[in-house]
Amino acid sequence: MEIRRPLIAGNWKMCKTGPEAVETAKQLVALVRDVTEVDVMIAPPFTALSPVYDVIRESPVALGAQNLFWEPEGAYTGEISVGMLKAAGCRYVIIGHSERRQYFGETDETVNRKIRAAIRGQLMPVLCVGESEAERVSENTFSVLDKQIRNGLKNISSGDLGTLVIAYEPIWAIGTGKTASREQAQEVHKFLRSVIEKKYGNLLAKSIRIQYGGSVKSNNIDALMQMPDVDGALVGGASLDAESFGRIVRFE
Ligand code: G3P
Repeated sequence: MEIRRPLIAGNWKMCKTGPEAVETAKQLVALVRDVTEVDVMIAPPFTALSPVYDVIRESPVALGAQNLFWEPEGAYTGEISVGMLKAAGCRYVIIGHSERRQYFGETDETVNRKIRAAIRGQLMPVLCVGESEAERVSENTFSVLDKQIRNGLKNISSGDLGTLVIAYEPIWAIGTGKTASREQAQEVHKFLRSVIEKKYGNLLAKSIRIQYGGSVKSNNIDALMQMPDVDGALVGGASLDAESFGRIVRFE
């Protein structure tokens, strides 16, 4: 019997100052205080992590970061380590978001180093994968995703994979209002699970959580969550407002 607890996460990207993030976090905590069916995570910008943690620490909302660097410390101007994120209260870290791959030169190789650093430091990595519109149109979706997963998880053993979450975020659906249909999401999630099965076996494939991300809103979360291989959502725009994210968390 497979039991996967859904994870509904809000990626606030480069939005909200510390005080703005604290305000939204306070509103969110009030709205999801009694939620027990799903795990909830928010990933504010680095400058807001500590103050937001003070607001959510006694609530069901967990803290996540949007990136990390793999070295523990040193002369790496502008970077942030696993230890720093953990000290700020983070339990999760989003890695390999398509915006980081597109604008900041992240590759499958750097993504892999970051995933390994997160696992070493006991932060739960959320590995983002997704195809572009051109890749989908040219029917390369599965080969692109297969490569992203295999390279992203290179040299990671099944024993280390326990806390990893995969987020399937088709690039063409991010911030565009074009959500993948629930059938499209299911087809890809099933495929991703089969890639994990080939590499790590059936047990892990059944237990790994695969979130969908890309224009998730309160009016489509319910349909997506009905699909057997969709284990939650990674939400951008609609997570910035506590009311709308609260509705998504409740599948309302
Ligand atoms: O990581 C979340 C994401 O990229 C989706 O963004 O605004 O389409 O929900 P959005």
